[in-house]
Amino acid sequence: MAENLRLQLEINGQPHTLLVDPRVTLLDALREHLALTGTKKGCDQGQCGACTVHVNGKRVLSCLTLAAQVANQSVTTIEGMANADGSLHPVQARFLEHDAFQCGYCTPGQIMSAAACIEEGHAGSADEIREYMSGNICRCGAYPNIVEAIQQAAADLSKEAT
Ligand code: FES
Ligand code: FES
Repeated sequence: MAENLRLQLEINGQPHTLLVDPRVTLLDALREHLALTGTKKGCDQGQCGACTVHVNGKRVLSCLTLAAQVANQSVTTIEGMANADGSLHPVQARFLEHDAFQCGYCTPGQIMSAAACIEEGHAGSADEIREYMSGNICRCGAYPNIVEAIQQAAADLSKEAT
């Protein structure tokens, strides 16, 4: 049995210290050690996108990332996406408005991926959004509404930036 590691992580702007087995994934660290269960476990094999979070602003699959790999780095989960005043991030608001979910299981991962997709500059058209969101699977088939929500959120964010 490997010796536990003591890790410092910044999660949603807050410092955390974790004592975990070196083999623990970031996904399990979030869900089981920090009770941040908004990040979902779908396949646990890098194939569905449900576990998407941001590390230093970039999207990563937390099921394929060891907690130890993100020591001393900044992690954002769906719980950290709303603004400090409690208002929703534009991607969250547009998902609600466009009914871009049914069961909601894939939704946190879709939202984290969508925010990164927009930030990467890959939300210029519906086709581009479909391509750069292709790692996020929705078993309910909410794709048309997801794409519409992302297009609207991209427009909101570009207005905010001007
Ligand atoms: S749970 Fe990570 S990609 Fe499916
Ligand atoms: S809303 Fe059910 S899996 Fe996407």
